[in-house]
Amino acid sequence: MCGIIGVIGNAPVTPSLVEALKRLEYRGYDSAGVATLVNGHIERRRTEGKLVNLEARLAKDPLPGTIGIGHTRWATHGKPSERNAHPIATDQVAIVHNGIIENFQELKNELVAEGRRFDSDTDTEVVAQLLTSNLERQMSPQQAMGKAMERLRGAFALVALFTGRHDILMGARRGSSLAVGHGDGEMYIGTDALALAPFTKRVTYLEDDDWVVLTAKGATIYQGQTEVKREVRQSGISGAMMGKGNHRHFMLKEIHEQPSVIGDTLQTYLEPATRLVTLPALPCDWTKVSRLTMTACGTAFYACMVAKYWFERLARLPVDIEVASELRYREPPMSENGVCIAVSQSGETVDTLAALRYAKAQKQTILSVVNVPESAIARESHAVLPTLAGPEIGVASTKAFTTQLTVLLAAAIGAGRARRNLSREEEMRLAGALIELPAHINAAIGMEEQFRWIGQEILADARDVLYIGRGSSFPIALEGALKLKEISYIHAEGYAGGEMKHGPIALIDEMVPVVVVAPSDAVFDKIASNFEQVKARGGKLVLLSDAEGVSRLGSQAAASIILPRVEPAVAPILYTVPVQLLAYYTAVAKGTDVDQPRNLAKSVTVE
Ligand code: F6R
Repeated sequence: MCGIIGVIGNAPVTPSLVEALKRLEYRGYDSAGVATLVNGHIERRRTEGKLVNLEARLAKDPLPGTIGIGHTRWATHGKPSERNAHPIATDQVAIVHNGIIENFQELKNELVAEGRRFDSDTDTEVVAQLLTSNLERQMSPQQAMGKAMERLRGAFALVALFTGRHDILMGARRGSSLAVGHGDGEMYIGTDALALAPFTKRVTYLEDDDWVVLTAKGATIYQGQTEVKREVRQSGISGAMMGKGNHRHFMLKEIHEQPSVIGDTLQTYLEPATRLVTLPALPCDWTKVSRLTMTACGTAFYACMVAKYWFERLARLPVDIEVASELRYREPPMSENGVCIAVSQSGETVDTLAALRYAKAQKQTILSVVNVPESAIARESHAVLPTLAGPEIGVASTKAFTTQLTVLLAAAIGAGRARRNLSREEEMRLAGALIELPAHINAAIGMEEQFRWIGQEILADARDVLYIGRGSSFPIALEGALKLKEISYIHAEGYAGGEMKHGPIALIDEMVPVVVVAPSDAVFDKIASNFEQVKARGGKLVLLSDAEGVSRLGSQAAASIILPRVEPAVAPILYTVPVQLLAYYTAVAKGTDVDQPRNLAKSVTVE
């Protein structure tokens, strides 16, 4: 979703603004713009579409200035167009904004009644007009911002540039993330540490309802009218982590990183010598936990679906799972001594955050599995189980998902041990399977040519693709279908194999490929029957299994992939990799924008 950057210093800022916007492209956007002060006046360049368009505009019509703001916009109010692109400006102030001003209509009515004319269809413009109205009442920029914050409802992060004020930039956040970067004679403000990475590693994360005044020398942060202190932290993100390396796309790079990031994650959660799980100190006693609720959105929700199998089987713990956008409005009663686990790569997904807050209000102990340790979800949890995936730039989640699964399996093993449901031998066997996993994933990645062939020859021309799996392979079928539709725009659905005959089998003909996720496990015979049922109706089958499964069913498949045979508990992690690569090579064959698929945003900070 929208990305924000602001820079104040003594050198021309436009190149830095554009550089930071490139780092924010991963969030998804459909227009972009920058504004600086030129001789005290706000000057803007804005374009619809990708940043190359903005760069071309700037090449034709350069923008000088030593103070400026920039934005990538993912449209919410008002279609993607130059007119609605940020910065949104009046003659007094220019604003970049992420989030939604929920009471914008009420504020707009008031401002229009005052005689103000609106130039865009955005909710953001009410902030610009409100600040202008306050400034015209002889308030200082600081007073104007403080007063405006009192009127705004919703979740937002914004940065403002004021006419005639080369000496200050102001920012404010409520809900959406915003961070200050500390340079040497230059200060920065941006959506996240990734945006600030080209300039500085010294970062201050603003908290909800903070607003900040930046000068070239430093930052003063306020809550209401009171000045507050916030820590300056060292960001772990380096410029090198942000490149594609030798890969054509970030998504491919991130798929390839999985053996190493899963290995890094395991180093935190497993003791290789003893083969025992080592969880951080948690504020819950698993023996007393009555119920576990897990919540997330999209791919992260599928991690919850897989983890339900693990916690139920390994820890004999009752588990409820629900997508956060439903949980937050359903108001379910939650049991005493309950634990809620929120799972999120970004840690900023607005629905997941709201579901977490609901569970907290229901007195649940909140654990979160997040990839961004400074995120709102991490900060609002009682304890954090970090995934060590590193920055994930491709919009379609890959390494974040497999590290979420790795952490959740370790947590389920830890809970199983605490609840005396797992013997030491069993724990060691599961830990051993996890330790071997990076090597098996490497082997799967090594079959890239086969995935390329299936993507190109079987999937790329299909109009619809079905994915089926049973048991803990069912969520992987859902994940495979989601990945394919996200990046190749082919309609795809995931089903529990047993459900095929209750409806979806009507869709089967020789034009509909069916990808079968079928490791040799306790339900293999069942999925084998579903495979036969599809085959009998002329379906084109792609089989993902191990040598045993392929020797039983492979002769009837249009294509088979032979994966290493693994302990069934870790199979969902391994079998994710082939569905990622199938989606990737199908999208490449179709020539779509793999890393920034249309309409999608990386971090979903609006409802
Ligand atoms: C799919 C994908 C999304 C995210 C979802 C949640 O490839 O990336 O479905 O999983 O938007 O995002 P986080 O994990 O940041 O809460």
